[in-house]
Amino acid sequence: MKLNEFRNYYEPLIQQELAEQIAVLQIPHSLKESMHYSLQAGGKRIRPILLLAVMRELGADHPDALKVAAAVEMVHTYSLIHDDLPSMDNDDLRRGMPTNHKVFGEAVAILAGDALLTYSFGLLSRLKDVSNDDKIQLIDLLSVSAGAEGMVGGQILDIEGEEKNLALEELEQVHRLKTGALLTYSIVAGAILAGAKPDAMVALSKFGEHVGLAFQIQDDILDVTGTSEELGKTAGKDESSEKSTYPGILTLPKAKEKLAHHATEALAAISGLDGDMGLLKELTAMIIERKN
Ligand code: IPE
Ligand code: IPE
Ligand code: MG
Ligand code: MG
Ligand code: MG
Repeated sequence: MKLNEFRNYYEPLIQQELAEQIAVLQIPHSLKESMHYSLQAGGKRIRPILLLAVMRELGADHPDALKVAAAVEMVHTYSLIHDDLPSMDNDDLRRGMPTNHKVFGEAVAILAGDALLTYSFGLLSRLKDVSNDDKIQLIDLLSVSAGAEGMVGGQILDIEGEEKNLALEELEQVHRLKTGALLTYSIVAGAILAGAKPDAMVALSKFGEHVGLAFQIQDDILDVTGTSEELGKTAGKDESSEKSTYPGILTLPKAKEKLAHHATEALAAISGLDGDMGLLKELTAMIIERKN
């Protein structure tokens, strides 16, 4: 199946799963509205799509796959709500709409992020068709990928990095953590649900690390080359916040070389796997060519 067809099929299902998870909650109206607002604002759904594409390429289907995909997207959406807060990147525009705190206020935005994060772990713990061992692994890996040793750790280094000029190796570590960890999780979670063998798991995990880095390098590049309208978020934000970025440290052409390098390495990592991995190849191309 082509990626376009795959995305067209799954995106509405992801959207629906997210909406249904929130709709049934008996929670204060403002909190529900705020959680719903950011989840339904759109976004590329690249993490859920990666998870589902890995399963498809491994020839697996799983009744709980959409729930795990929704859990990852909730964690990602929480990370964006908090990333945009005045005390973090202080952004007004996200997914083409005013940021959560601009609409609901800072307190509600913080709490909506907290609620999305905690809910995602509950969602995983209630999975019905996953063995207890796999479930614990899914929960544990998400806690590491999203937490202090993953995304949160990367966000701290990113914020602290605003006051200094990071070396390329330091910036690479920021990118691995703040963005790569959750992207890699999406891929590994798909592999766990698919019952992947150890060698496939290693290959896909390596694929995830390169794709994750490539994803954030392209995010840095688009911040320079894109417009706010194309991106659905404020262009030129990294320079105005004095962030260290790939184009900033390396120049734009060299940043693009790094991007291409990680895409090549990502594809090399999965070249020995059975099957043509067509969706993962197309996703790699999409990640480096994307315009938003
Ligand atoms: C933006 O992620 C933040 C990063 C980790 C670079 P995405 O580019 O996946 O954002 P959405 O989900 O499509 O809005
Ligand atoms: C965000 O990195 C990484 C997250 C964990 C949300 P950025 O700060 O560069 O993401 P954007 O550009 O605001 O989407
Ligand atoms: Mg940020
Ligand atoms: Mg930001
Ligand atoms: Mg960015």
